[in-house]
Order: sequence, then structure tokens, then C-alpha cells
Amino acid sequence: MINDKKHYRFALISDIHIDRENKGKNTYFIYAEENLSRALGIIKDLGCDFIISTGDQVTNASGAEEEWRVYRDIIKRSGCKDRIYAALGNHETRSAKYGINTLEECISDFIKYAELDKKDIIRPDCKPYYIMTEPVFGDVFIFMANEKGADINELDNFSDEQMDWAEDTLRKYTAEGRNIYLIQHANYYKYGAGDDLTEPAYEGAVRTIDEKGNTFKNNLRFKRLTEKYRDMIWVSGHTHIDLEDDVNYSDNGGKSCHMLHIPALAGTTRLSRDSKGKRTLDRTFHKGSSQGYIVDVYEDKTVFSGIDLYSGEFYPQYTYTIYRKRDK
Ligand SMILES: [Fe+2]
Ligand SMILES: [Fe+2]
Repeated sequence: MINDKKHYRFALISDIHIDRENKGKNTYFIYAEENLSRALGIIKDLGCDFIISTGDQVTNASGAEEEWRVYRDIIKRSGCKDRIYAALGNHETRSAKYGINTLEECISDFIKYAELDKKDIIRPDCKPYYIMTEPVFGDVFIFMANEKGADINELDNFSDEQMDWAEDTLRKYTAEGRNIYLIQHANYYKYGAGDDLTEPAYEGAVRTIDEKGNTFKNNLRFKRLTEKYRDMIWVSGHTHIDLEDDVNYSDNGGKSCHMLHIPALAGTTRLSRDSKGKRTLDRTFHKGSSQGYIVDVYEDKTVFSGIDLYSGEFYPQYTYTIYRKRDK
């Protein structure tokens, strides 16, 4: 029986990358501000109840204070204030990599400018990971954080405390029968959505073992959760890869949760090959390149509709419908 009872609608965006550090010809994500402004206008017109951003709101090579100010100004002007829930990506902590800020300062800025003091957010004291609950139907959105630093392919990304919290949270809300969305910025190398799994183009994905073969314990714990809770929907960003490269969805052949990749708002990248045929990522910025999803949640399913967030046109060929309760 078809069940078309719609519960609510939200927008999924990622990799906004406000970039002010070089202010001019060296600015990397040159269309970021225009793209965010246009996207928020389109999202508002489409009647979304809230917006989820899956990380890298700012670029931050040399301190993100000015970028965060621009980010907040654009949101304020859009009329979407108080409706955006953001995850901590790797770029939020990038200036700590160069010794410009400490990791604690970067995380503190994220907590302040992403406004994690919103009334409906529940989180451990001073931590960048948290829970938001949809107010009418009680669906749970769990926001993970790449809290250990910017070089996420070379370290254990999550603290013991964060993984204990994530495991407890998933156990509790699964037992209550809630629908669960997991927001985690960075994808895993050769696993899930967001890259070509046989020939990956993006080297900066999370690993479960280091170069010497040692296990990254908490990265592995996270992966195990994606295999244990198959009804969960994990949304990630990070590779910026365009919808048209068709690496947007995986459930690991039914052996894991649903995994959906969100392309960059600041300009998408494309799977490509160099002159010798080796896999590469084309990072050329094109004006008008900005993608995400409009998500409609129904009683028995969630529909992720790919959308060009510069023009407002949908991509019917990149629409993913996910049904629940296959673990029962
Ligand atoms: Fe990014
Ligand atoms: Fe990233």
C-alpha cells in the first residue's frame, strides 16, 4: 500500500566553504558567498522546515573569524536564522594545523558561530557533537564531529567520549523505534557514498588503519555502527563530487546503513583522469555549480531529491527513496 502522508521537509547542504583569507585572486572557493545566498533563497521558497549543513562551513587556512562573520551575515539576511544545524567538518579546525589557532579555539568558534546553544540542541558540555530532535514526529538527528583535527585521513577522528556517546545515543533511540539520521562530514575511504569505490579520487577520506597497518580504533567503531544500524541514514559531504558522477548513494549491498553523499554548495568537483589515465579529481570552479538535496519525510520513507541550488532545478535522475524498518 502506498503511504503518502508527508511529515516534514528539510534541505541538505554541505561544504559551503566561505573563504576570506586571501580576499581576492587567491581566494579558493570564489563563488561560496553568492552560492550560499542563492541556495538559502531557493530553500526558503521551497518551504523547508529546517536546513542541515554537513560540514566545512568555512575554509579557514589562516583563522576563520572573518569567514564566520560573513557566514552569519548571509544567513541573517536570508531570513533562515535559527533554522540551520551544522556539523563540524575538517576545515573548521584547519588553522590549528598551521599553529594559528589551537584546536580548542577552532572548536569553540564553531560552537559559537554555528549557534550550538539553540534551544532544541542537546549536547555534552563544551562538545561539538550533539542531537537535534524534529519537534512534531520525534525523528532524531545525530551530529558527529571531526573533533581531532584537519588531517582526517591520518588520525583517529573521534574521541573515546564521542564514540561512547554515539553508541549510547543510537542504542537508546533505536530501542524507542525512532527514525535516525546521522550527520558525519567526512566519508570513509573505499566505503559508502561520495567517491568511486574501486578507484577513489579523493585521498582525504577517513581510514580505519594507518600506513603501518595499525587500527584507528574509533574510526573503526564508527564504521561498525553503520553496519549495525541498517535503518539509519548517514549523510556526508567532504569530497565535493558532483551528483552527475553518480556516486551519491550506497548501502554496501544491504550490509550497512543507507549512506548518502551531499555535493558542495561552493562548487562541485568531478571524477576525472590525467593524461596517463590515472584517476584524479577535477577541482575547476564553475559559476553556477552548487548542489544539494531537498528531503521530504513521509510516514514510511524519506525522499532525497537532488537539486541545483544555483538555478533551483531538480535532478529527477538523482532522487533517492529510502524505506525504513528493514531490520525488523
Ligand atoms: Fe570541503
Ligand atoms: Fe571536508
